[in-house]
Amino acid sequence: MSKTFIMIKPDAVRNKHVGDIIARIEKEGFKILALKYTKLAETDAKEFYKVHKERPFYGELCKDMAAGPIVVAALERENAVLHWRDVIGATDPKEAKPNTIRALYAESKGANSVHGSDSDENAISEITFFFKGMELVN
Ligand code: RTP
Ligand code: MG
Repeated sequence: MSKTFIMIKPDAVRNKHVGDIIARIEKEGFKILALKYTKLAETDAKEFYKVHKERPFYGELCKDMAAGPIVVAALERENAVLHWRDVIGATDPKEAKPNTIRALYAESKGANSVHGSDSDENAISEITFFFKGMELVN
């Protein structure tokens, strides 16, 4: 078993896809260890996505991530990081395979409905970023 961190981004919350995305999480066999509805300050978004700070889209990305409420969760499953990335599909919804979350719900490459950790190590640090001090239910 391994963990991943996922976010339902502001565009998907605004477009009322929270219920469908959580249903998909359960259908894919993930166990929810922690779940929160919250909103990022732009400074927190900058910290969360600091690996991208040299990229041209960094400013817009941080602004978009702080534009409205989000849902964040810590999930557990066999091969959690890779499985979630398969379920969400390519970063650009135009390139995402049919029935992936981004193919179904994303508006654009910037407003692409969900986030997923890209490694086990980053999963732990992203879970800590949002759920520090909170015991993960098991
Ligand atoms: P995420 O981290 O959100 O799960 O997305 P990802 O791994 O598929 O993509 P990544 O390269 O980590 O990029 C992070 C987010 O930045 C936005 N982005 N915009 N306008 C652009 O060219 C561009 N490229 C990336 C996307 O919202 C992407 O999810
Ligand atoms: Mg990424």
